[in-house]
Amino acid sequence: MCKMLLICSSIVGYLYAVYALPPPSYLTPCSLSDPKFNECALKSGKAGMTMIIQGDKKYNLPSLNPFKLDYVETEAGFMKIKLYKPELHGATKTELKEVYYDPKTKRMGLSVLFNEESLVGNYDISGKILILPIEGNGDLNITVYNAIFTYEFDLIKEMKNGVEYAGLKNDKLDMNLDKIYINLDNLFNGDKLLGDNINKFLNENWKDALNEAGAPIIEVLKSICFNVLSTLFLKVPFNELFLP
Ligand SMILES: *[C@@H]1O[C@H](CO)[C@@H](O)[C@H](O)[C@H]1NC(C)=O
Repeated sequence: MCKMLLICSSIVGYLYAVYALPPPSYLTPCSLSDPKFNECALKSGKAGMTMIIQGDKKYNLPSLNPFKLDYVETEAGFMKIKLYKPELHGATKTELKEVYYDPKTKRMGLSVLFNEESLVGNYDISGKILILPIEGNGDLNITVYNAIFTYEFDLIKEMKNGVEYAGLKNDKLDMNLDKIYINLDNLFNGDKLLGDNINKFLNENWKDALNEAGAPIIEVLKSICFNVLSTLFLKVPFNELFLP
């Protein structure tokens, strides 16, 4: 359960400056009414991927490798978690697998495969996971392997200063993974035996752990997707980014 989520991210500030730009040179706009929109958008997105991951100041797109946040505080299952300066590493081992749009429902989505993506940073944790008490603070590394993230949203139109821009509503993120590696350094005030046992237990039972405590991870990733896309959408008028 995600009871509280606080993301103090530098990207939030980006949403304010609104002035229109042409589409970025590395993204070829596709027509929403083209029956082959999905194919066109996948090709365009694949070609632009390297630049998007690198970030682009002109469009206020942050670097995605590493992607840096200042602070995340959340309740995950029965734990309280604080993350200081969390970073996501590994976006270069990423492949855009699918882009889709349904003109009837105006629902758009994209799937991205991460071969290996790590969340690292300093953590502070207290509470319970899968009935076991867990407590400590130190360095954290959670790495997912062959993870497919599918991000989906209603593509809407929003008026800003008399210009129509694309926006996102009712967004959703699904995550499918092969394997997860979890390492929390310095659990229980550095009690190595206890810490090693919990880490071993979490790695062996990662599916259950994710079921119980994964919601905030999804929320954080979802808000990153939302921020990156809405930042880009707010820079380029709707009809230039998505041809009629
Ligand atoms: C996190 O752990 C993975 C798996 O052991 C490792 O490949 C990666 O280098 C680690 N990342 C950092 C920043 O330590």
